[in-house]
Amino acid sequence: MSTVQQNAVTIFDTTLRDGEQSPGVALSPADKVVIAQQLEAMGVDVIEAGFPISSTGEAAGVSAVAKSVRESVVCAFARAHQADITAAVQALKKAIRPRIHLFIATSELHMRHKLNMAPDAVLDRAVWAVKEARRWCDDVEFSAEDATRSDFDFLCRITEAVIKAGATTVNIPDTVGYAIPDQFGALIGRLRTTVSNADQAIFSVHCHDDLGMATANSIAAVANGARQVECTINGIGERAGNAALEEVVMALRTRSDSFSATTAIKSDQIGFCSQLVAQRTGMDVAANKAVVGRNAFAHESGIHQDGLLKNSNTYEIMTPESVGWQGTRMVMGKHSGRRAFQDWLGRMESVSFDEMCLEGAFERFKAMADQGMHPTRDEVLGWVDRG
Ligand code: KIV
Ligand code: ZN
Repeated sequence: MSTVQQNAVTIFDTTLRDGEQSPGVALSPADKVVIAQQLEAMGVDVIEAGFPISSTGEAAGVSAVAKSVRESVVCAFARAHQADITAAVQALKKAIRPRIHLFIATSELHMRHKLNMAPDAVLDRAVWAVKEARRWCDDVEFSAEDATRSDFDFLCRITEAVIKAGATTVNIPDTVGYAIPDQFGALIGRLRTTVSNADQAIFSVHCHDDLGMATANSIAAVANGARQVECTINGIGERAGNAALEEVVMALRTRSDSFSATTAIKSDQIGFCSQLVAQRTGMDVAANKAVVGRNAFAHESGIHQDGLLKNSNTYEIMTPESVGWQGTRMVMGKHSGRRAFQDWLGRMESVSFDEMCLEGAFERFKAMADQGMHPTRDEVLGWVDRG
């Protein structure tokens, strides 16, 4: 599961931390364990289990995940504060492969208005925190919060300093979803060539979806050498959410002609995982959500249905089975055509229909569908039987 190949992209799932920061979501330790076990079964490399200092229940949730996961790295989130690091170390005690994820803001805006700290003080604190975390854990990630609105030279300086202090992964978050793909890709490429010790750490990205570009930004970063992507199931997370794991994984897989990067995710587990997270968080998945929405493999229009019945590649770039859906769904409605209508009836009953009878039933079905009614297959078969 670990990333040994040059082109392997580490999938860092933060459903249980950033995902849980979605307004209104609170996962119990038991919920976290169930989700973490599914993430592990799906091949997620790193599971960010939570932010232990934030509450007693959260610390218990991280500990419970740490105890139950065997293969994936289990990660705890921490500010660059002693109390946070202590809480993370404590919560990760039972983890077989622990990681501490430290963060501090690096943009002028955040440093001045939120932290009230000068850049040099932020840099010193980051270096101190990484060294402190490394006393307890060999695997330490550092995130430069609001990196995409940070001064580039300062971002290089702090990245170089934390790598020197022992950070094994450096994460470049687009905290407020401000980035656009070509600029974000270029930022990752430039950082990797400018920071003198860049080869001593994995470059990671963490993109938010405020402008709907989280997945595109993550993919642009991979094209420019990022080798860890932080993401969540169903794209849940702060505000408009994070890059969706299912989108990142399926984009890299489906467009392997353009990216030589691979992940260890067993994609046929994605559908189940999506439903589990929706159920445990209470956050429904939009019907048209890429990869996991209930319409992602559904077709109603006659032209599309006809094409699909002839060759599924006409209107599907992935198979539903590859992401754990059971078969392509033909939805019968006002846009459907004869070909799909016959297939719909015939596939179920394997009866041969009288042509006239079938045409009459089709007309009647279309008239009802036009009024927004949806007769069931059994009802339609009843008309056909009666002639
Ligand atoms: O969005 C963000 O910046 C984060 C952390 C990685 C700091 O969630
Ligand atoms: Zn975030």
